[in-house]
Amino acid sequence: MSDQKINAFAYSDADKSAIQRVISQRRDMRHFTSDPVDKKILNNIFMAAHHAPSVGLMQPWRFMRITDGALRQQIAQLVEEERQHTAQQLGERKSQFLKLKVEGIKECAELVVAALPDGREQHVFGRRTLPEMDLASLSCAIQNMWLVARSEGIGMGWVSLFDPDKLTELLRMPEGSKPIAVLCIGHVPEFYQQPMLVQENWAEARPLEEFLYENHWPEEL
Ligand SMILES: Cc1cc2nc3c(=O)[nH]c(=O)nc-3n(C[C@H](O)[C@H](O)[C@H](O)COP(=O)(O)O)c2cc1C
Repeated sequence: MSDQKINAFAYSDADKSAIQRVISQRRDMRHFTSDPVDKKILNNIFMAAHHAPSVGLMQPWRFMRITDGALRQQIAQLVEEERQHTAQQLGERKSQFLKLKVEGIKECAELVVAALPDGREQHVFGRRTLPEMDLASLSCAIQNMWLVARSEGIGMGWVSLFDPDKLTELLRMPEGSKPIAVLCIGHVPEFYQQPMLVQENWAEARPLEEFLYENHWPEEL
């Protein structure tokens, strides 16, 4: 007999496996088809973001849907500039990096910029010693979007290759605000089986055991 106690708050086995599946099958996507995303699905994705936890219930997320084609091209240009700067700093890995697809800005059906708002200094609860908890909260929101998008069969890619000052200016954002992510959202030809950086032999994912410590940080890793 199982010694596991019945927990009335737990989800059903089917629901639990669906949650595990969406977590493990979520991928950062950079290949998209041009099919439009249903408005209801897009709304579900934004609602998922809005249900995220946030430090002191600060809700420090702002989402700018980019519907102007010319603006999309300008954002693509900013990302391309940063891709080249990044490549310059990668030394002998430069040419391998330049072969990677690091965004799908021009192809994806929906382009969204996720940003932190201005006035964040007023929020002290949970941020006095760790001001970056605003970014942590926005990141939780973005992860929720990623998971709900995957459950809807929609791909999402997080692009952080851009100069935030230039993007702030381009999007006429107020002083003190900060763009954090360019999100490519849309239908995909297929979901990658593994992180694309693993498939492309750029990086290897390490197992959980290497990241679980007890009591103190280990002296030898
Ligand atoms: C904060 C953050 C920023 C990222 N920025 C980029 C990016 O600029 N370009 C890109 O191709 N992928 C970007 N990624 C995606 C990661 O490369 C990807 O999450 C990682 O390789 C693991 O793959 P997976 O998300 O499919 O599991 C970013 C991911 C995170 C969490």
